[in-house]
Amino acid sequence: MEFDIITAFPDMFEGPVSHSMVMRARDRGLVEVRLHDLRDFASDRHRKIDDVPFGGGGGMILVPGPLFAAVEAIKDRHPKESSRTLLLCPQGTRYDQAEARRLAGYDRLILICGHYEGVDERVREHLADESISIGDYVLTGGEIPAMVLVDSLTRLVPGTLGDEEAARRDTFSQECFDYPQYTRPADFRGFKVPEVLLSGNHERIAAWRKTRALEETARKRPDLLKPRAPGRASAMRDH
Ligand SMILES: C[S@@+](CC[C@H](N)C(=O)[O-])C[C@H]1O[C@@H](n2cnc3c(N)ncnc32)[C@H](O)[C@@H]1O
Repeated sequence: MEFDIITAFPDMFEGPVSHSMVMRARDRGLVEVRLHDLRDFASDRHRKIDDVPFGGGGGMILVPGPLFAAVEAIKDRHPKESSRTLLLCPQGTRYDQAEARRLAGYDRLILICGHYEGVDERVREHLADESISIGDYVLTGGEIPAMVLVDSLTRLVPGTLGDEEAARRDTFSQECFDYPQYTRPADFRGFKVPEVLLSGNHERIAAWRKTRALEETARKRPDLLKPRAPGRASAMRDH
């Protein structure tokens, strides 16, 4: 899977795309992350990318020209049959694991990071295929939301995780949470690992895990156990 990220702050990505799973996926050629500095697509010598809003009001707005030029250049340089251009935006479709699975179906995502007071509306109307929000709160820019997408989508690229079965069990990949996990030592300061996990009896362990996963889901997120609309339910199950 490939990501083309358009941002006025490319250095912000240095850490998140250069460590752990994302870096390993990049090293193995499973994931490609290309950063595009929005200022490189500005047409004036001051590399201006923002301006004041028409009609007044505070803050600066990203102007459309460099964003359109960036997306067009990316499509020219890296043509892809299956590509989607996403504007990161707090007013967009709420991102969750079902959305992640849907977006993982594209070969390449172009991610447009807004900043300052936002982005000229014509970008949403005429450039982006859709807008994505990572939650009902407002961040300074679309960079952290873009990192959230790159990280969560990388986990879904086949071959990225050592244990694909573990991903299938992940919270939000099925209709209940992942089960509680324990590791050594079996007794830590008197806090003991449930005896069944030390029993070696795989049937009992599987039954215990299923029960505990359902109990935790019912306690913390009962809404996940409620029947969903058909499309939504199958999206949660598809893996
Ligand atoms: C300060 S925000 C602009 C908020 C805008 N004035 C509004 O109220 O809708 C600047 C940029 O951060 C990004 N952003 C902020 N919160 C976000 C969220 N929850 N999900 C995705 N992107 C977000 C968007 O790219 C946005 O253009």
